[in-house]
Amino acid sequence: MKFYLDTANLDEIRLGVESGLLDGVTTNPSLVAKEGKSHYEMLKTICEMVEGPVSAEVLATDAKGMIEEGRELAKIADNIVVKIPIGAEGLKAIKTLSCESIPINTTLIFSPVQALLAAKAGASYVSPFVGRIDDVSQPGMEVVEQIVTIFENYEFECEVLVASVRGPMHVLEAALLGADIATMPFKVFQQLVNHPLTDVGLAKFLEDAKKTPR
Ligand code: E4P
Repeated sequence: MKFYLDTANLDEIRLGVESGLLDGVTTNPSLVAKEGKSHYEMLKTICEMVEGPVSAEVLATDAKGMIEEGRELAKIADNIVVKIPIGAEGLKAIKTLSCESIPINTTLIFSPVQALLAAKAGASYVSPFVGRIDDVSQPGMEVVEQIVTIFENYEFECEVLVASVRGPMHVLEAALLGADIATMPFKVFQQLVNHPLTDVGLAKFLEDAKKTPR
């Protein structure tokens, strides 16, 4: 399973890269706005820091605008993936840009059929927002499960990128379902390694080791 960071914060991305476990980065307009820097400059820096794919979202809402913006974003670096919201206009843009070999991450996926449409249009990734689905009292992971099944049924090469991850349990469930990628806030990335019994166990080993001469 691949791990992406869902952030535009350069310090978090640097720490992710240093961990040796980071496979990519996803950004969105809200995450970019939080950093208060120039969008394209920031993307360029992130693409230099990270070897894997870096998702960058278009702001246009019509197909023509999305296509133009997608082409501009793709020029920033070879590892840019253009993020396009699902919708009738988005699907047209996905079709055009993917035919130009520009990889697309379809964002704001809340139903399995939306993912099916995106894959049919040629998207390389679909991003179901599990946390936001949970927020409206529906099981977000059921959507992921159904997308995984649909993609297996039809042998789509499109990758399932589980997004809106809120904690380690989302990562666990996504891995059990065979999702390709989980993108997560830095805090969740840090939480994955922790277990209180590991801390207790290590403290005991170190304490006992003091009793043994070297
Ligand atoms: C996906 O790529 C989005 O950036 C993201 O996961 C949204 O998560 P949120 O619901 O925590 O804002």
